[in-house]
Amino acid sequence: MHFEFTEEQLMIRQAARDFAQTELKPGVIERDEHQKFPAEQVKKLGELGFLGMMVSPQYGGSGMDAISYVLVMEELSKIDASVSVVVSVNNSLVCYGLEKYGTEEQKQKYLVPLAKGEKIGAFCLSEPEAGSDATSQRTTAIDMGDHYLLNGTKNWITNGNSASTYLVMAQTDATKKHHGINALIVEKGMEGFTIGPKENKMGIRGSDTHSLMFTDVKVPKENRIGEEGFGFKFAMSTLEGGRIGIAAQALGIASGAYELAAKYAKERKAFGKTIADLQAIQFKLADMATEIEAARLLCLKAAWLKDHGKSYTQAGSMAKLFASEVAMRTTVEAVQIHGGYGFVKEYHVERLMRDAKITQIYEGTSEIQRIVISREILK
Ligand code: CAA
Repeated sequence: MHFEFTEEQLMIRQAARDFAQTELKPGVIERDEHQKFPAEQVKKLGELGFLGMMVSPQYGGSGMDAISYVLVMEELSKIDASVSVVVSVNNSLVCYGLEKYGTEEQKQKYLVPLAKGEKIGAFCLSEPEAGSDATSQRTTAIDMGDHYLLNGTKNWITNGNSASTYLVMAQTDATKKHHGINALIVEKGMEGFTIGPKENKMGIRGSDTHSLMFTDVKVPKENRIGEEGFGFKFAMSTLEGGRIGIAAQALGIASGAYELAAKYAKERKAFGKTIADLQAIQFKLADMATEIEAARLLCLKAAWLKDHGKSYTQAGSMAKLFASEVAMRTTVEAVQIHGGYGFVKEYHVERLMRDAKITQIYEGTSEIQRIVISREILK
């Protein structure tokens, strides 16, 4: 067992760290306040190859491993989780699914520009009445011979407006339940496809979350991913990798808050000494550091399993469950260590605390992760 990164992984981590400091940190408070999508920053990440990190170079990607993906997600999320969620969705839920299950034509047409970062993708599973219960899709894709007629609404879609390519899960044959669901590639601009207003969210406010409405959208048959009825398995399989990305996002939010809290504790004076000299603060920092290290190891273990072609269903859900809870606990404590300063925007930790919450909700709530883990350990 080796607890060391390769030279390449270290270089990638350093590149992400530098990018976060120079490109993401300036303006992060303003983007959060005004809910501004980080278009410029995402474009630059695309140019650096971070939007198709794990895609083979044959399809315009960077051909990196999942360990590097975890390192990059942690570094970006320390500074701006509204940016890292774009990286996560594009890599894990869109590029991965297209590369693994798409046809050669779909890869050339859709994957290549997504992997190069020329376009952004979105993954559309959640509905107003189907979030955790993902088999209860109400969006329909009626088989019309050479195309599907798509009708319905998708909710909480990350990259909802900024994307050009949407992977949409829809029910074609309700009598077959989840075996009747298809995954379809939908393009922005297709007739009958409209995008609702941006959600006004508590956290990751820069990210672009919208409802999508489909009214008699004609989706060509060649845009179906996999065999007829493969859509639910497609969604579950891509979400497994997505959970590693969100676990690493939660890890980054936690480690970002911890680093700020430790720095502040060494500077802030109270009772004639720095607050880092107080055992009450030392114990908090010790707990934070320990939990963050455990979360990091879970993320890396899940990524390692993925890189070695082994099952990572359980490991990915464990990483997401634990890291998201660590993100919540750590950010709350980071605000506490900052005292009154923690409650104001300039000190960053209040934003990290708001951002942390979504990691317990999207790509499967903590309750869903517990379902996945318990099924794996009991089967
Ligand atoms: N890979 C492949 N297939 C899988 C799978 C996996 N990981 N997990 C389940 N399946 C298959 C099962 O084998 C089964 O197929 P068969 O009937 O052929 O055997 C089928 O899927 C149904 O499985 P279940 O009976 O386990 O389904 P269920 O109804 O009990 O639900 C669930 C399982 C785990 C609760 C699932 O519904 C789930 O993960 N829900 C959460 C959905 C979710 O994460 N939504 C997030 C939205 S996306 C998002 O947030 C992105 C974003 O914008 C950031």
